[in-house]
Amino acid sequence: MKSSIWRSVQALLFACATIPGWTLAAQAQQEVKLAYCFPEASHYGAGAGAWTAAIEEGTNGKFKVRHFSSCALGGERDTVEGLQFGTIEAIMVSTGTLSNFVPEVGLTDIPFLFRDLAHARGVLDGPIGDEILGKFDERGIVALAWGEQGFRHITNNTRAINEPADLAGLKLRTMENPVHIKAFEVLGAAPTAMSWHEVISALEQGTIDGQENPLSVIVSANIDAVQKYLTLSGHVYSPTMLLVSKPFYDGLTDEEKAVFKDGALAGAAAMRGFVDDAEKTGLATLKERGMQVNELSAEQRAAFQTSVQAAYEEYYKTYPKELIDRVIESE
Ligand code: PAF
Repeated sequence: MKSSIWRSVQALLFACATIPGWTLAAQAQQEVKLAYCFPEASHYGAGAGAWTAAIEEGTNGKFKVRHFSSCALGGERDTVEGLQFGTIEAIMVSTGTLSNFVPEVGLTDIPFLFRDLAHARGVLDGPIGDEILGKFDERGIVALAWGEQGFRHITNNTRAINEPADLAGLKLRTMENPVHIKAFEVLGAAPTAMSWHEVISALEQGTIDGQENPLSVIVSANIDAVQKYLTLSGHVYSPTMLLVSKPFYDGLTDEEKAVFKDGALAGAAAMRGFVDDAEKTGLATLKERGMQVNELSAEQRAAFQTSVQAAYEEYYKTYPKELIDRVIESE
């Protein structure tokens, strides 16, 4: 009896093993952990969705991408380390965090460097952007594409911000990013570097007065629930990067590498599409939700730009002046 059951099991296993598609999928399906620090209903989710679809379809299901949204695998810095250790295969992360790993990326975090989205996208998709992507290899990371969040604006609970003097002493959360911290120091605020997953509770508890992020983030994270004033300072462009672990990437075939790369470009395009929508509709949404919005005049904005110039002397020590000027002068 026992042996006839065993023979049936063997026959079934043999039958399955001779169906080529089935065997391939069952034996070789590999999970790709994709981590990001934001909810799925956001620009990150849009990018992750497009990247996932491209990978799963382009490899006929050999790779199954599992999303870990909202910092489920730790803060942005933790996920970059996870990539280096090879415990996470793919991440989407803001450049704010990345300059701690690849200092060259901090160039993109310099305030008032980019005029508008088209300028920023043009530079990052061109030779300067490619050069920065290439710096990641030696850190155990493969940088595939530039995603986007938009231009960052200031929110706070203390007062409307119309001029740099209004920032005096304001406990403003920044990313753990030396370029941003320097900018807010020279503007007179009290910058407080903090990982994103601690920000909402810190705002609720009043341990910080404000934060700064693009409309895509302010709307998706419901920052209006914990912040009263929004100033459209647009003080810095905020790119993201779509990255994979180098040990994982090195194990892929050339065709699979191309699928991951093209998929990352599709993910980046989806993020940019989301940001375009947020730029069009985000402001009205936040006003409806009761935020007091300060739209700066050209002169008021110029006052912030002038005040922050003092930080440029510091930036030139890390990023050559010629390079910064080249970015500013790019079409
Ligand atoms: O402010 C930040 O830390 C980032 O902009 C965020 C919200 C985590 C998205 O990358």
